[in-house]
Amino acid sequence: MKNKFITIEGLESSGKTTACDIIVKTLNEYGIHNENIIITREPGGTPVGESLRNIIKDRNNEHISYKTELLIMYAARVELIENVIKPALNIGQWVISDRHDLSSQAYQGGGRCLGLKMINKLRGMILGSFYPDLTFYLDITADICLKRLQIKGKLDRIEQESLHFFERTRNYYLKIIKQDNSIVLIDATQSLDKVRENLKNFLFDWLKKQ
Ligand SMILES: Nc1ncnc2c1ncn2[C@@H]1O[C@H](COP(=O)(O)OP(=O)(O)OP(=O)(O)O)[C@@H](O)[C@H]1O
Ligand SMILES: [Mg+2]
Repeated sequence: MKNKFITIEGLESSGKTTACDIIVKTLNEYGIHNENIIITREPGGTPVGESLRNIIKDRNNEHISYKTELLIMYAARVELIENVIKPALNIGQWVISDRHDLSSQAYQGGGRCLGLKMINKLRGMILGSFYPDLTFYLDITADICLKRLQIKGKLDRIEQESLHFFERTRNYYLKIIKQDNSIVLIDATQSLDKVRENLKNFLFDWLKKQ
């Protein structure tokens, strides 16, 4: 089976990082070993990308304009794709990414109200036909997102956004996934055990079909 690029998406605290671990363990059970798997995160995953992540998350940068935010996301993404993801895929490694391009469409398109027209144009010019093979979208309501963030405590610039911001972001996720059958919705309001079971079952079935 050819190596794949799998991404995980969702609102803050939807369980993305936990899902990355579950996916890696499921791949291990399927016979794909850790030396053939890399995990990346967005924004970040490269020296320049991590610096850009700090700019995005720093609460002192309250007034970054939305278009600047979008461009920073794409700058970090290009760094990651060109320097890490594509080279890994080219040598046969599996790549699991904690967030990817769909986050920009949902957060900047929906949350920041920039819409999809400009983002899709930018996406096409910058990323071309580079897409993940499979995306898991962990769906939680904006309400649950805020409740989990309250438990977390100190929040970054994005995490401190409003209920309406996260509602708009979720609505965009839901709108986009309806039109793309490479994105699988997992109900992440369920218990972690249920989420794990859903992820594993789907991934096993998908792997068998590859
Ligand atoms: N299905 C779930 N039910 C209850 N709590 C959950 C569930 N999934 C994750 N959590 C909890 O929510 C918190 C965030 O989980 P996790 O770090 O995996 O999410 P994340 O999407 O990666 O968050 P972040 O946006 O901070 O990167 C953790 O404390 C985790 O245990
Ligand atoms: Mg995380």
